Amino acid sequence: SAAEKGGYDYFMLKEIAEQPKAVADTLLGRVDAAGSLTLDEVRISTSELREMDKVVIVACGTAFHAGLIAKYAIEHWTRIPCEVELASEFRYRDPILDPRTLVIAISQSGETMDTLMALRHAREQGSKVLAICNTNGSTIPRESDAVLYTHAGPEVAVASTKAFLTQLVACYLVALYLAQVRGTKWADEIQAVVRELSRSSQDVDRVLDTMEPVRELARSLAGKRTVLFLGRHVGYPVALEGALKLKELAYMHAEGFAAGELKHGPIALIEEDLPVVVVVPSPRGRSVLHDKIVSNIQEIRARGARTIVIAEEGDEAVAPYADHLIRIPATPTLLQPLVATVPLQVFACELATARGNEVDQPRNLAKSVTVE
Ligand code: AGP
Repeated sequence: SAAEKGGYDYFMLKEIAEQPKAVADTLLGRVDAAGSLTLDEVRISTSELREMDKVVIVACGTAFHAGLIAKYAIEHWTRIPCEVELASEFRYRDPILDPRTLVIAISQSGETMDTLMALRHAREQGSKVLAICNTNGSTIPRESDAVLYTHAGPEVAVASTKAFLTQLVACYLVALYLAQVRGTKWADEIQAVVRELSRSSQDVDRVLDTMEPVRELARSLAGKRTVLFLGRHVGYPVALEGALKLKELAYMHAEGFAAGELKHGPIALIEEDLPVVVVVPSPRGRSVLHDKIVSNIQEIRARGARTIVIAEEGDEAVAPYADHLIRIPATPTLLQPLVATVPLQVFACELATARGNEVDQPRNLAKSVTVE
């Protein structure tokens, strides 16, 4: 009913708007005033966590994209090797697992059969499984050794939005907690990141306030057949997520690429007026990546692409090559997906609406996939 949707036309719009609160709620009680982490709920002992020599993340769909981003954070902050695998592929390749492998299963519903089968397989091999889940008491957390709940609240729309952002928060928390427990980063470094993370809810709120031009742009592209998405580093999984949202909601051909791969094939797809969304890394810090993506944008624009550029406020270098410029607040590199994903959700939702599609219940899809 309209009341359930809180005045919004679709649950998806309501859930997009709830993201600042979902992010804040997922941090609540897990970060103390001094900026150190208390994840007592993770019932894997600190001595066991210190022994782990590998992290393996399993998940499907949007949750898999959260896992891809987690890999960057876990390896950077903890120096523990981390693999990410689609849950549906995982157990069929006889993965190498033992008691020193920490397996993280990410699932909004906690009922996804592929993810459940992957975690059962991991536990049979003696690995510890930590679930990151949004649904209290669901099967995946019940069958795991430990669980860190995301506090997004119930997500009704089939397309995942607020659950994804809270999965990212949970992944960052796990990564920082591992770093804290293992002493791989100085306490003050961890606290600095935690402080930035605590600000992210306001940043998401600011992005939401500036989405009207994104909606307008989406409506203008309703007649297109294809949209491409490019990103690098953590922007690459963001590009994959932008493409997935567009497929499931707008039923358009959409593909995400790592920008560095362009010249190895995908650049052949670029043609006159093809919309290409580019997620630009911060010009600060890893500026090499920034410069490389700016030249990618120049290359595709020279071949006629219509460039839709998502870039940090104050990043002036991209402006001359952007047909459409979408600004996001400056954040530390690893945290950028929290703000960069939001315009892509709004974009897909508006395009679906413009094409007359059922936003909350896309064709052929179910909210949770309980068959293999
Ligand atoms: C997201 O928009 C999708 N509907 C889908 O990819 C989903 O993320 C995937 O099926 C995993 O679901 P889960 O998080 O409930 O395990």
